Amino acid sequence: MKIGIVGLGYVGLPLAVAFAEAGHEVIGLDADQRKIDALNEGRSYIEDIPSSSLEPLGELLKATPRHADLASCNAVIICVPTPLTSSREPDLTYLLEAATGLSQVLQPEQLVVLESTTYPGTTRERLVPILEESGMSAGRDFHLAFSPERIDPGRTDYTVRTTPKLVGGLTEPCAERARDLYELICDKVVVLSSPETAELAKLLENIFRSVNIALVNELAQLCDRLGIDIWEVVDAAATKPFGFMRFDPGPGMGGHCLPVDPFYLAFKAREHDFYPEFIELAGKVNQAQPAFCAERIQRALNDAGKAVNGSSIFILGVSYKAGIGDIRESPALKIIHHLKELGGDVSYHDPHVPKLAEHGLSSVDLAPGLASADLVAIVTAHPGIDYEDVVSTAPLVVDFRGVTRGIEAANLVRL
Ligand SMILES: NC(=O)c1ccc[n+]([C@@H]2O[C@H](COP(=O)([O-])OP(=O)(O)OC[C@H]3O[C@@H](n4cnc5c(N)ncnc54)[C@H](O)[C@@H]3O)[C@@H](O)[C@H]2O)c1
Repeated sequence: MKIGIVGLGYVGLPLAVAFAEAGHEVIGLDADQRKIDALNEGRSYIEDIPSSSLEPLGELLKATPRHADLASCNAVIICVPTPLTSSREPDLTYLLEAATGLSQVLQPEQLVVLESTTYPGTTRERLVPILEESGMSAGRDFHLAFSPERIDPGRTDYTVRTTPKLVGGLTEPCAERARDLYELICDKVVVLSSPETAELAKLLENIFRSVNIALVNELAQLCDRLGIDIWEVVDAAATKPFGFMRFDPGPGMGGHCLPVDPFYLAFKAREHDFYPEFIELAGKVNQAQPAFCAERIQRALNDAGKAVNGSSIFILGVSYKAGIGDIRESPALKIIHHLKELGGDVSYHDPHVPKLAEHGLSSVDLAPGLASADLVAIVTAHPGIDYEDVVSTAPLVVDFRGVTRGIEAANLVRL
């Protein structure tokens, strides 16, 4: 098989590598020339894909900026970003551009699969008309399906191969082609009745997480008032072997998916005069969590007789989750913003994020950062940091990730 992947980011690159590792020829297309150059020189820019894993792939994985190179592929998978506009509406610009480029080189019998997360109806209502500008008919001259990506950057217990893959085809033969494609790299492929079902299944997965994270974060705020340890409460509830699924509180939700995807569904729902209240409430609670964290830092300093204004506040971890360098929608950025507005002298340490351009900051080494801080806030708990040492070195520590559980110290405050 020869497979084209459009968009070589957190989703597209691992997918491209998985197909190449299974012995298939992969043409990766990206709009970013730096990514193309890096891949063609054997350099990865994604934590989950070490550069050493690219070398054995040799000629099987090639990156290109030219749509024409996709013409010889049996299947083309689209993995471009689906962000929000400034007014929090779905921004399908990347997707529509990718489809337009593809329509100009589309070949009879090709299979096109959309993996980008989006609202139900996108494949049929938005992709089909553009791809049919090729003069061919979807479902008859070429095949089309939606298959949501389920990758969780940084996760090692489930891989592309061991995570079941959903596919929903425009027609039955479309679904069969998509199933055959993914069976090359996935142990289990689940065929659904339509692209819309597959599109909505992905949103349900993410909204489920968003709602449950909001629930536990709201409870964390209540526990703060009640003087109850939220971590002990969650640990206790999690001893129930059925009917409960653990979600940990934290500084808020980040990444390209969870804070964004619910708005895709809310947009579609509004078209049908439906206002999904759970989804919007969860978004509201999660978006307010960084402000709560900044206020918690302010209180901790106040209890120590200090103001945020003029205090040196050292943030540990600014990416949205542990072990990776993705800062999209990271709550740390909002916490830093709030603290700077209050006059805090903010610095940070993150081995995965050398620079925070929007705040004009660069990562500071751990030891000097700890030594000069009035307060250290653990916002993202990257592995490889000795948190016991952090607590014993810094004058005051606020832990939003629960990694200091088990440590009792007068200078330690936990969410
Ligand atoms: N990151 C995740 O954990 C994750 C998980 C599941 C689903 N998704 C979904 O997958 C999609 C991609 O997310 P991502 O995290 O890989 O994004 P990303 O920003 O890491 O990668 C997208 C890539 O697409 C490229 N691109 C943009 N427009 C293009 C075009 N017209 N032609 C060719 N390349 C183009 C960009 O240069 C970039 O390299 C999104 O819809 C996202 O919601 C992401």
